[in-house]
Amino acid sequence: MNSTKQTSRRQFLKMTGGIAAVYTLGVARSAYAAGTDEIKVALIGCGRRGRGAVLDRIAVGDNMKLVAIADISSERLNLAISTFDKLENKTTKINLPHEHVFNGFDGYKKAIECADQVLITSFPGFHTTHYEYAVQQGKHVFVEKPFCIDAEGYRRCMKANKLAEEKNLTVLSGYQRRHQNSYLEWIKRIQNGDIGNILNTRVYWNAGQISLRAEKKTNETEMSFQTRDWYVFNWLSGDHYLEQHCHNIDVGNWILGKGDPLAHPISCYGLGGRQARRSPWMSPCDCGNIFDHHYVEYRYDNERVMHSQCRQIKQCWTAVTERVQGTAGNGVACSLAPYDKETWNYPKKNNDKSPYIQEHIDQVDAIRNGKKLHEGWFAATSSMIGIMGRMATYSGKEITWEDAVNKGKTIFPYDKELTFDTLPPVLPDADGSYEKSTAIPGIYDPFE
Ligand SMILES: NC(=O)c1ccc[n+]([C@@H]2O[C@H](COP(=O)([O-])OP(=O)(O)OC[C@H]3O[C@@H](n4cnc5c(N)ncnc54)[C@H](O)[C@@H]3O)[C@@H](O)[C@H]2O)c1
Repeated sequence: MNSTKQTSRRQFLKMTGGIAAVYTLGVARSAYAAGTDEIKVALIGCGRRGRGAVLDRIAVGDNMKLVAIADISSERLNLAISTFDKLENKTTKINLPHEHVFNGFDGYKKAIECADQVLITSFPGFHTTHYEYAVQQGKHVFVEKPFCIDAEGYRRCMKANKLAEEKNLTVLSGYQRRHQNSYLEWIKRIQNGDIGNILNTRVYWNAGQISLRAEKKTNETEMSFQTRDWYVFNWLSGDHYLEQHCHNIDVGNWILGKGDPLAHPISCYGLGGRQARRSPWMSPCDCGNIFDHHYVEYRYDNERVMHSQCRQIKQCWTAVTERVQGTAGNGVACSLAPYDKETWNYPKKNNDKSPYIQEHIDQVDAIRNGKKLHEGWFAATSSMIGIMGRMATYSGKEITWEDAVNKGKTIFPYDKELTFDTLPPVLPDADGSYEKSTAIPGIYDPFE
């Protein structure tokens, strides 16, 4: 592979002309497995987070090389190539021969096969199948949050988790708060009892309008449009409730579950809807089939509760944080106020790294030193808690964990081979809107 030339942006454009890259591969035996210490990395999903994740992975500073990339968009592949082309250390860190640049819905398989470690930063709906394949292929893996967007995805992730454990693979998740020193110390103090027994957590992702939007082009297929405007289609994003708020839900559950990666609420109920998304005031108002506000109350036992709020409407109260109340005080990320002592705030240290880099440092340490790192258990669990909450806001019903996990509706087409001509599971109404595919509480059935 060392003798293969780097692919320049111009070469790739010329080669693809906007269509699929060549799929012929002579997959080299893993250099790392063969005895050198170079870790070969593949990137699945070359969007904003994916390009950032590669830079974060490079920042670890070990002997690694990006050897393959995959995306369903040739524009994104080109953008990634030109981004990496500008790196000062590109010759030691990047080696992307054109036959290792994979365009299309099945390109992820070929890219995964080239690597020792895989970064999965595609749309949430695809995370489950990409994760499953990486584990089947025996690769160390970083999977962005959420791990799954429906109950079937959760069950599949739990099976992949077990396989990863059997194969001694490391699994890193995109829940970077789990690697942020301020959170780690905060949670340690809470678990040490600094504010007594925990009564409840309150978690928020109330923000404005999202910028990730796309307009439908003339003669564009529905699949092409929806995969560009992915955020507002729940089969791709899981709804903003899951896509964004899963971070805060994970922290609230981390606290109430006392660090048990499989802890979860017993049941939940909630309310939600879409008020502003369909208005021209939130232009463009082609608003897919997701809600724009949710509130969920998760019951852990007869006393302990997690309250969760998530909103995407501009000019409203904003908050992205977690709060905790104990019998001897309370806290807001990352400070605590015991009732009879001074408030504790996290003292930032000079050597604190960005959690986006720290998480890769921790995974590389685990890979290279044979340490255990398996975040798939808590990551799939907290993703499922978000799915359960979405089932409650969409349906208006009380949802138990057991029913959610065992009977929750499948919304992603796992068994279909997708192309840009495949009809997506959500289709437009005659007027071009997606109202008939949008849940109405009281009517929506959250089960199969
Ligand atoms: N941890 C964090 O703080 C954080 C921050 C931002 C985004 N994210 C997560 O990262 C993921 C990506 O978000 P983004 O903002 O980069 O979105 P994006 O739209 O910028 O990028 C996603 C990329 O994945 C590609 N893709 C989608 N499905 C694919 C498939 N089946 N095969 C190959 N490529 C595919 C898309 O074409 C696109 O280029 C999401 O899951 C999001 O929730 C996490």
